[in-house]
Amino acid sequence: MATYAEKDFDSNNYNVNRPRYPNSLFNALFEYHQGPKNLALDAGSGPGTASFPLLDHGVEKVIATDASDVMIKPGVESITPDLKDKIEFKVFPAENLIEPLEGQTADLVIVAEALHWINHDEFFEQASKALRPNGTLAYWGYVEPRFIDFPKANEIYQKYVYEDDRYMGPKWIQPSKNFLRYFFNDVHVPNECFKDIEKHDYYPGETKTHTAYFHGDSKYTMKKFIDYLQSWSAYHTWQKDNVDKGEDIAILFTNELKETFGWTDETELRVEWGTTYTFARRK
Ligand SMILES: C[S@@+](CC[C@H](N)C(=O)[O-])C[C@H]1O[C@@H](n2cnc3c(N)ncnc32)[C@H](O)[C@@H]1O
Repeated sequence: MATYAEKDFDSNNYNVNRPRYPNSLFNALFEYHQGPKNLALDAGSGPGTASFPLLDHGVEKVIATDASDVMIKPGVESITPDLKDKIEFKVFPAENLIEPLEGQTADLVIVAEALHWINHDEFFEQASKALRPNGTLAYWGYVEPRFIDFPKANEIYQKYVYEDDRYMGPKWIQPSKNFLRYFFNDVHVPNECFKDIEKHDYYPGETKTHTAYFHGDSKYTMKKFIDYLQSWSAYHTWQKDNVDKGEDIAILFTNELKETFGWTDETELRVEWGTTYTFARRK
């Protein structure tokens, strides 16, 4: 969390370069959801990557909360006059869902790409209080990209992202990163308060059919990859810790990929992300 709250974290770059969530995921969410969808709370909303699309899928009002005022800023700035009464950003930790609701009950509580930063037990307890009976709890995440046609590129990825202590591996905040890296397999929605719990994972190269949450790009370029890497918290930390070196870890990493495979910034590559989503219903 600390990184995203830093005043110099580039939340505009984050907002522009992070993946959007596919319609198929929202369609699955609203096929699962039962009853009215008057109010949704998006916890760890950042700039509202998942909050705004909820409005396109029939939710009347969204309260988007995040522990960092830096991260919500691009979201606040993109509220158009017609959305003024439909979406509200508030600075609150996800371990406190009651206060931002100001006495209302939520029909949905969602968390997109943020549950790994949050204290799960406290969050689930709060979600059980924030939701009406039969209201929906949903959380999801994209894990990491895999180069489909270049297995060796995935080995270089492992080196820069996890394995070699000179690079970004030691810069991840743990255990947060591992919760996401391992598809939230160690996170358990408490079944005293929730029922109809379903989890769907997509492992590139392993899962035979796409789930409702597929994120792939058949024209991925190193240019896009650099922008994406530069939105990472571990990138931000590496740059700060190595300011004297005058290097950019995203450039070092992608230069090795380009030199190894003869790629240019424009070479189009097939990439798929591991994804996971979980839906549950308040008892
Ligand atoms: C990777 S971003 C995801 C943002 C957005 N939901 C999205 O889908 O792009 C993670 C977000 O979680 C927020 N965050 C981290 N710890 C938090 C906590 N305990 N409570 C609320 N937000 C938190 C960070 O400030 C950051 O905006």
